[in-house]
Amino acid sequence: MNKDPSTLRSFSHGRWLFWLPALLRTPLQGVLEGHPLPVGQLQALFRDNSFWGRERRPAGLLRSLRGSDVIVSTWDGEDLVAVGRATSDGIYRAVLWDVVVRQDWQGRGAGRAMVSRLLAAPPVRCAERVYAMTTHGVGFYRRLGFHEEEKQHLMLFRTGF
Ligand SMILES: CC(C)(COP(=O)(O)OP(=O)(O)OC[C@H]1O[C@@H](n2cnc3c(N)ncnc32)[C@H](O)[C@@H]1OP(=O)(O)O)[C@@H](O)C(=O)NCCC(=O)NCCS
Repeated sequence: MNKDPSTLRSFSHGRWLFWLPALLRTPLQGVLEGHPLPVGQLQALFRDNSFWGRERRPAGLLRSLRGSDVIVSTWDGEDLVAVGRATSDGIYRAVLWDVVVRQDWQGRGAGRAMVSRLLAAPPVRCAERVYAMTTHGVGFYRRLGFHEEEKQHLMLFRTGF
């Protein structure tokens, strides 16, 4: 089936809205969060299109959304086709997480558009450095202007969860 990326709509969600002065927040929230993000669709997107998020359950997903500064969701009508999120300290460091495009929409620019929107969001834009951790997406992030930082190593501490 022919898929035209110009028909997709994207929305921003997340606690970064609380950066806005209260007077602006209420009217802008309606515009910026113009779409609900049903956790069932999110769960299915991770289950079917990622290897790391296959087992994620609604309660955990909701918690991760609440803990994110920016979330971008992309929709084909009422169907969730891509999602990505970021956390940030608002000045020094921001990290992108869980960037996923539904398989039938991959290769059509949805991932680039979503990451561009995450990078443009105030908490990410204001950070000195933006990190991304990826297993299979190195080429993708390179195309978007990221580089492999050879002076740093990825360190992992397993908490037992
Ligand atoms: C990786 C992923 C997010 C890319 O999204 P996408 O919508 O397919 O990517 P786009 O169509 O926006 O591609 C943007 C550019 O990156 C390139 N690209 C995309 N995936 C790539 C890959 N795996 N390797 C090399 N280049 C890649 C595209 O060719 C395109 O280049 P161009 O602008 O020069 O034409 C998507 O394939 C995906 O969700 N994969 C499964 C989950 C995953 O592995 N995520 C990794 C990030 S954590």
